[in-house]
Amino acid sequence: MAKEKQVFYCKECGYESVKWLGQCPGCHSWNTFVEERITVGAQKHSSNKKMVVAPTSILDVTTADESRIKTNISELDRVLGGGIVKGSLVLVGGDPGIGKSTILLQMCRNLVAKGDSVLYVSGEESPSQIKMRAERLGDFSKDMMLLCDNDMDNISAAIQKSKSDVVVIDSIQTVLVDEISSAPGTVTQVREVTARLMQLAKTCDVAIFIVGHVTKEGTVAGPRTLEHMVDSVLYFEGDSNNGFRILRGVKNRFGSTNEIGVFTMTDKGLVEVDNPSQVMLNGRPIGVPGSVVVSSLEGTRPILVEIQTLVCQTNFNMPRRTSVGVDYNRVNLIMAVLEKRAGLNLWGYDAYVSVAGGMRINDPAIDLGVACAIASGFKNKPVGDDIMIIGEIGLAGEIRGVSNILQRVKEADKMGFKTCIIPKSNYDKAMNELDIKIVCVSTLMEALGQI
Ligand code: TYD
Ligand code: MG
Repeated sequence: MAKEKQVFYCKECGYESVKWLGQCPGCHSWNTFVEERITVGAQKHSSNKKMVVAPTSILDVTTADESRIKTNISELDRVLGGGIVKGSLVLVGGDPGIGKSTILLQMCRNLVAKGDSVLYVSGEESPSQIKMRAERLGDFSKDMMLLCDNDMDNISAAIQKSKSDVVVIDSIQTVLVDEISSAPGTVTQVREVTARLMQLAKTCDVAIFIVGHVTKEGTVAGPRTLEHMVDSVLYFEGDSNNGFRILRGVKNRFGSTNEIGVFTMTDKGLVEVDNPSQVMLNGRPIGVPGSVVVSSLEGTRPILVEIQTLVCQTNFNMPRRTSVGVDYNRVNLIMAVLEKRAGLNLWGYDAYVSVAGGMRINDPAIDLGVACAIASGFKNKPVGDDIMIIGEIGLAGEIRGVSNILQRVKEADKMGFKTCIIPKSNYDKAMNELDIKIVCVSTLMEALGQI
């Protein structure tokens, strides 16, 4: 007999508890628990029929030469690790309105044009709304199939019947499994739907793309709870107000992660950007204090970005520090090192640090650039426009080496920079052959002296 049970889930990480909690023990966020009723019997039933598979020796396993389906959007192929893998489940997440439906529709268009069969399932839009969007993107062939439904059983039947190569589910938050009494978009529903899609992907050998919304308030179950269930996770980031969109591979079972694809949103859909450094440095102010160009390694590509800072006298007891696109704690650490090792009296000053272009950077190689930008903003003296700065800062004020230095210097050279400040330990003879002047530094003081 199916029995109804009350459970509480964290909306952020999916932590399960039998009673309501103020703070989640899993992810430490506050006020994220929601009540859900689950039917225990039905869940058991849905967790798929048993299959008996005997263990095999690893030598007997044949690696069917990983046939990848090219999407012909090279930035998307790159993030996917060289194309779509058959039978994989890919989650595409991002804020509403960032362009998830647009990129997937463009991908479908390219696939049907090549002769692959595609099924686009939408629980959010009607066929005419999808058609309206599709008309902006170009001509579609008649093999592009649409299904506007949000019932999991119907979707599952359609996928099995259509024998498509690629299926898009837009979005996971609208799909509903009948046996579960909670509303669409709740943690239980989203998990169950994903589990069933996973099963379908593997049994029908179809690649499934799932769209998942992430909202700041977390009113719907964040797709973060699904990250460990799917094969690949792609996140769309960027400011929906400006044109750039960055598609970032966060997890990929079939390729390298942290690869990014850069797009711009136009009136005819998303257009790939061949030279991201150029786009990121577009409109850079010249001769302004607090602006420094750094190099961030994104996957296999170095991308040049501009760090902007504003340092001004504070009107409060506690100076304000704000960072956009770089880690807040890292900025505090760099400012502490600047105070202690370079003698800058930053304590009476507010500091705002931001990455131009809406990118988020985790690469520690930008530390020295951030430090120089803050120092430049503080002293009100501009850093030269044709200088690029690379290096990680240690607590003793030493400049540590970074990875892939030659690639980064070459990119700077290509973008027309005249001087490159690099960590001493990274120096390589091959750099002499480039047109760019290399300045090696080993401490923060040395670097500040150079600019
Ligand atoms: P959409 O793909 O619907 O976002 P998501 O599915 O992630 O919620 O993208 C919506 C935004 O993109 C919307 O603000 C309109 C804009 N857009 C364009 O600027 N040009 C286009 O050709 C298309 C299709 C959308
Ligand atoms: Mg959408």
